[in-house]
Amino acid sequence: MKLDSHCNPREDEVTGMKKDLSSIQQMIRNAAKQAREDTQSEPEPEKRQPPAWPLDCTVGPGLEGAIACESRIGYVNGAKGWLVYRGYDIFDLAANATFEEVCYLLLHGRLPNAVELAQYKETLFSFMHLNQTLRILIGFPLENMTVMGGLRLGTNLMRQEFTEMDLVKTRPKLANAIGADEDSIAMETAPLGYKRATFEFKIKHSGRRKTDPKPRGHVFEESSAIDTCYHLIAGVSTIIGAVARVHQGKLPIAPDPDLSHAGNLLFMITGRKPSPVEERIMDIALILHADHGMNASTFASMVVASTLADIYFSIGSGIAALSGPLHGGANEAVVRALREIGSVENVEPWVENKLARKSKISGFGHRVYKVYDPRARILSPLAGLLTNVEDSSHLLAIARKLEKVISKSELTRQKKIFPNVDFYSGIVYSCLGMNEELFTPLFAASRVAGWTARVFEYIQNNRIFRPRAIYTGEFNNQYLPIQNRS
Ligand code: COA
Repeated sequence: MKLDSHCNPREDEVTGMKKDLSSIQQMIRNAAKQAREDTQSEPEPEKRQPPAWPLDCTVGPGLEGAIACESRIGYVNGAKGWLVYRGYDIFDLAANATFEEVCYLLLHGRLPNAVELAQYKETLFSFMHLNQTLRILIGFPLENMTVMGGLRLGTNLMRQEFTEMDLVKTRPKLANAIGADEDSIAMETAPLGYKRATFEFKIKHSGRRKTDPKPRGHVFEESSAIDTCYHLIAGVSTIIGAVARVHQGKLPIAPDPDLSHAGNLLFMITGRKPSPVEERIMDIALILHADHGMNASTFASMVVASTLADIYFSIGSGIAALSGPLHGGANEAVVRALREIGSVENVEPWVENKLARKSKISGFGHRVYKVYDPRARILSPLAGLLTNVEDSSHLLAIARKLEKVISKSELTRQKKIFPNVDFYSGIVYSCLGMNEELFTPLFAASRVAGWTARVFEYIQNNRIFRPRAIYTGEFNNQYLPIQNRS
């Protein structure tokens, strides 16, 4: 498959590209069919009614098992391998939608019509121009920062260029809000849920303080608030492009109006217009990573937003949480492991050694999915489409063999360990010409859609997050003057 820049493709090339794009769609449909077949014995979930708060649930350390809120945005079913955004199956969205449509869907609760999509794309594109932010940002020593570090900084700087919080009329009113440090709920008291909730944000310009959590299903349409989300979705990609360019010793470049959001993300990083196939594969990768339940970075964004802090700081917290290797960095580890394995012949001894030492193998296993991760099912065949880059085809051959060896091992047979999204995403990004330090920023470029959507859903019925810790320390210690301490 030819992947050079296609500025003026010949007619036969256009036919070839269309074929390539429809073959991508077919690959995803095949993956969906396989997924359905593999998990048909698992029961289908039923639509849930909103629960009556407070709820009883079993909570583990790290809030495992805790139910913090209701959401209509996304759903993950680990037994069936389902990932659903606003009721739409991820396979359906990856095969048919664009990232722009998916962002709109997550934020507004429904797919846009043609006029809405055109307007949304226009706004998104205009928000990609972050002149003031970039002018300040490139004054910082970006070359000494990671791309994630630059992104974190840049997101906070974006606030100066655009923020509804600076407009006094839209500032939340603090009367009756529960303060962060106020232990208004005694340690021994059960959580009261909605009875004590404070609602600070207006619904549909009503200007009325909302005291009843019902009716549900309202979508936050306050235009300046939605624009802030669009601004963040657009700006995160621009900043990643700018920092990546500085790392290459080059100046940031402006987005191209002829490219999609995914195309511009690649263009602003590499300076080369992607081929339609590359653009579509990046688009699909963005769709697949846009939302995934109450993961750590989404939760971090929501916690900060629940204090009624500025949304730029809230999304900055999501970026910070994502930067940790336990969350955003597993795909880098996969590519490093494939390089360490070095050859297809070395896969079996490498796996044996890992299993004997009880080491974890990156790119396998998932906290929620106990079947093949649907995102990995989609990325796996796509990785095979882009292996014209020499190193990548070598890595893919090792990855295919690794998957085969693991599938026959005790990991899959007994522990239900399958490839997760990170197993193939790193290879896909490598094939798209991205170096490893860009893998987590690319994740952020997508997940910002989920962060903003979930934050705005949550603040409609906001209640500040305030879990408790069980104090296992001592009591009645006597204060000793410093000279008496050993
Ligand atoms: N390689 C080898 N063994 C693995 C494994 C992996 N990738 N993932 C899980 N296991 C084993 C564990 O060692 C454990 O074995 P044990 O019962 O003999 O102790 C068992 O499977 C259950 O593992 P556990 O860590 O409890 O699963 P989890 O659901 O809590 O963890 C992950 C999920 C993602 C943290 C874990 O699978 C992992 O670390 N994977 C590798 C990192 C990765 O790819 N992360 C990206 C996730 S999207």
